[in-house]
Formats: sequence, structure tokens, C-alpha cells
Amino acid sequence: MSVKGEVLKALEQNKGQSFSGESLALTLGVSRAAVWKAITALRKEGYPIEAITNKGYMLLEESDLLSEQGVRMHLRPNNSSMPLYVHSIIDSTNQGAKLLALQGAEHGTVVLANEQTKGRGRLGRDFYSPASTGIYLSIILKPNFDSSKSVLVTTAASVAVVRAIKKVCQCDAVIKWVNDVYIGEKKICGILTEAVSNFENGEIEYLVLGIGVNCQLPANGFPEEIKEKAGVIPVPFSRNMLAAEIINQVLEIYAELESRNFIQEYKQKSMVLGKNIQVIRKGVSLEAFARDIDEDGGLLVEFPDGTKEVLNTGEISIRF
Ligand code: BTN
Repeated sequence: MSVKGEVLKALEQNKGQSFSGESLALTLGVSRAAVWKAITALRKEGYPIEAITNKGYMLLEESDLLSEQGVRMHLRPNNSSMPLYVHSIIDSTNQGAKLLALQGAEHGTVVLANEQTKGRGRLGRDFYSPASTGIYLSIILKPNFDSSKSVLVTTAASVAVVRAIKKVCQCDAVIKWVNDVYIGEKKICGILTEAVSNFENGEIEYLVLGIGVNCQLPANGFPEEIKEKAGVIPVPFSRNMLAAEIINQVLEIYAELESRNFIQEYKQKSMVLGKNIQVIRKGVSLEAFARDIDEDGGLLVEFPDGTKEVLNTGEISIRF
């Protein structure tokens, strides 16, 4: 790791505490001038580092810049050495992860960004991804199961996000089928899973699980088209910590995907089960009752004429 990376790691691990230039230099085995150069570079990148007379440097508690060091220190020991690419700006972390997957990136590789210029959503939509107020991350997963179960990955990921938000932010989030995460009546997270297939045999080689979380209100608010629906996590927290916990929870739940143990939790967190909903099909809205979630994450709905159907993809809406 570079001196700058080492200095950032030390400061992130001791946020809100001061470190003398001398002790930093000694700990890292570099000169004080090298430490000073690293601090100057970090400040230029936007890190709020104060120099306190006779005490040294301090990364302010409110610092919330996403960084590899900041995320890695919150990863569980068994995940802590996985490849983690952090970008200040990227077109799409899903796109970045797909390219890495094609170059042979390993299971668990993560691409994380502070901003996306072409964030992708479901059904060909864009995902609004402004700088510094969200978490945009993609995880490369190498399936050890047949491709028909890929849809379960998104279902499991929504449970993982709810668990991570509870742990880091102490907020109760709920899931709107199929994979949107809400707090109250506002969508705070969207999930998009994409597959990288082998051209020769058509088999899925990798899945790219993309998760976008709205953490704070963007400076100019949300754009007109989504401002009724979109919301943010209503408490202060560290984006690095939440990003790391989402990765921890996704990898844990993924390892036991086939047991489907998480489906029960998905049902408990569902905001649609037992409610009257609208099933949206080719622009037409049909009344239905959301009865159950099956073991593949499908939504069992009942229409007013008594017919039942399992929905595996598509869109529903719910009146609050
Ligand atoms: C949706 O709500 O329609 C799904 C949104 C998924 C957004 C995430 S942000 C990180 C990853 N990169 C993308 O381009 N999209 C996903």
C-alpha cells in the first residue's frame, strides 16, 4: 500500500483522535516529510484532516468519504482480503464489475463508487447516482448452483441490505417485491442483478449483484421524476461502515442461498404480503391480493375472480 493509503488507514482507524506526524512516520517506517505529503494529498481529495498544535493530525469524526481503507476495516476477517476497487466516479459499478469478471476477477470482488454517471436500474431505467450522498456497489458472484436459481440472489440480497441497515443505522427497512428496499413510504435502495454468460455454452459464469443506496439527500434534492418515491436513511451513519456491512451480509447469505432460510425473513420484512396491490402489465394496472412468497422468491397473487398466479419478475405498486 502507498504511504498515502497507509496514512489514511491509520487515520480512519482512529477517527476523531490525533496522531503526531512523528508517530505516524515511526509507525509506518517513513519520513515525516512523506507523511506531510500524504496528508496534503488526502486533504486535496477532500478528507477533513485538522492539524492540531502539539498534537498532530486528526481525521474529523464527520468525514464520510468512501475509501478502500475505510471499507476494509469494517469487513469481517474472512472477507477482509477480497479485491475491492473504489472509484470516486464511474459510469456504472455493474459495468465495471462485468469488465473485471470477463478478465477473470474472483468471487467476492467488489466495485464501489462515490458517484455514477450511467447508473443502471431495472427494466432499462437509469438509477440516479449523485456524488457523495449514496453507496453504489457491485459484487461479483460466481454461482455454484444452476442458473435457474439466479433470481434468488436478488431476493437474498434485499434481506442482506435490510440486515445491514438495521445493524449500522438501527433503522427498520422493509422490502417491496421484488427487490426494492423502503424505509416508511420511500424507496431507499434498488438492486439489479446481471449475468455474464459464456458465449460458447450459454452458461452463466458470473453474476454481478448491483446495489444502490440513497444515504443522504442530494444537495439539489431528487429529480422531479423520482422525488415522490425516493427517500434516504433518516439517521447519520458512516457510508464506509454500511458499504462494508452490506458486503458482509451479502456474502454470508449467499453462502447458504440454497437452504432458502432467508425466505422466512423476507416474508417478515415484506411490505406487500397480505395487502391489495396493483400488478402492472404492459402499462395496465390489475387489482390483486399479495398472498405469499414461494421458495424461489416468486410472489403468489390472487385476482378478484379467484385465479392465482406466481409472479417471477415485473412490477407491482402499492397504495400507502
Ligand atoms: C432499481 O432500483 O431499478 C435497481 C437499481 C440498481 C442500482 C445499482 S447502483 C450500483 C449498481 N450499478 C448500477 O449501474 N446499478 C446498480
